Amino acid sequence: MLNWDEFHEDDQAVAETMSKPKPAPAAPTASFEADAGELKSDYRPVENDRLQRARQSLERLDVAAGLEELEMGAARIEVDDKQMINARVDLNQLVPFKYEWAWQKYLDGSANHWMPQEVNMNADIALWKSQDGLTADERRIVERSLGYFSTADSLVANNLVLALYRLITNPECRQYLLRQAFEEAIHTHAYQYCVESLGMDEGAVFNMYREVPSVAAKSAWSLKHTQSLSRPDFQTGTPETDQELLRNLVAFYCVTEGIFFYCGFSQILSMGRRNKMTGVAEQFQYILRDESMHLNFGVDMINQIKIENSHLWTPEFQDEVTQMILEGTELEIAYARDTMPRGVLGMNAAIMEEYLHFICNRRLAQIGLQEQFPGAKNPFPWMSEIIDLRKEKNFFETRVTEYQVGGALSWD
Ligand SMILES: [Fe+2]
Ligand SMILES: [Fe+2]
Repeated sequence: MLNWDEFHEDDQAVAETMSKPKPAPAAPTASFEADAGELKSDYRPVENDRLQRARQSLERLDVAAGLEELEMGAARIEVDDKQMINARVDLNQLVPFKYEWAWQKYLDGSANHWMPQEVNMNADIALWKSQDGLTADERRIVERSLGYFSTADSLVANNLVLALYRLITNPECRQYLLRQAFEEAIHTHAYQYCVESLGMDEGAVFNMYREVPSVAAKSAWSLKHTQSLSRPDFQTGTPETDQELLRNLVAFYCVTEGIFFYCGFSQILSMGRRNKMTGVAEQFQYILRDESMHLNFGVDMINQIKIENSHLWTPEFQDEVTQMILEGTELEIAYARDTMPRGVLGMNAAIMEEYLHFICNRRLAQIGLQEQFPGAKNPFPWMSEIIDLRKEKNFFETRVTEYQVGGALSWD
């Protein structure tokens, strides 16, 4: 297991070494030259056929072709050449930045770094293994949550890496997508860590997305919206394919990460607020904080694509996107009914329905669409407090602030 104290101390030691004033370079002296003379090596490389072939191959290297369609010596990239989709400029050049919001989210996400093993799970293990520590309804919530999320974050990661990444033609957005992909790996790790710590039936948990109808329906809905983009021959560049990309963004950012996570998150965090399964709840709290940034990044991408391609956002398309978000809300309400046949943890399916209608209104408004549930209020204001928490005043007070210290080291 990682020891962050040692890690931190090592960093400090290096930083101190690095920050010491460097002595002025001495003029070459006779003794320096004598030292250099002693550095002679007896090593004599042996020529062979492989090395010859490597050199011959390099003589034939076409540098321009290696850089794909790039024109050698072409004009340098201007900010205005950059676009969210269908850009025709060099995607390997991070700067100059066009979308400061994307770079800022990359920095914020990196400052929030955490790892699942840092969370103490001892109280959870004792409670989970005790006969009467949790009610049957509470146990069902823990099982369903780990069952849904353990595979959902994989679906999101695969969509990012295998479908979306190559189609977003902006380097600072890609930089965030790489950060997000790693965070999704940490989330899957966190669920696996909970399942392993509690000694749950791994087969049952990881197959729930194929075996339990309310979980399977959500996963199937997400998968449906990654299929066309993950075909190797899919390309954007027509209104139809550009709209297909937008559908994918709405399905994954607004619905999967923006609605499908919210019933389970609020159930587990309500459990933590009641001092039950506090380790699992702490893992979920960090994940929720990451997810709210993923959602906001997705909303920014959708809105930026709309600004740059207003012809895509037709009344018919707005209608279709509204319907997608309503479909996601209905699936999450069905999940709430399945996981809460009775009142539990100060909530029930009817209260969760109002919460999900409130969330649905938020998602629609964030991308400029009309709210569909006038009057729906947030029955769980503490959820917003948890999402908005800054790491320096952490809800469960753990080690995450350490990363900020590491990130603030000066190497001058
Ligand atoms: Fe995630
Ligand atoms: Fe996410």
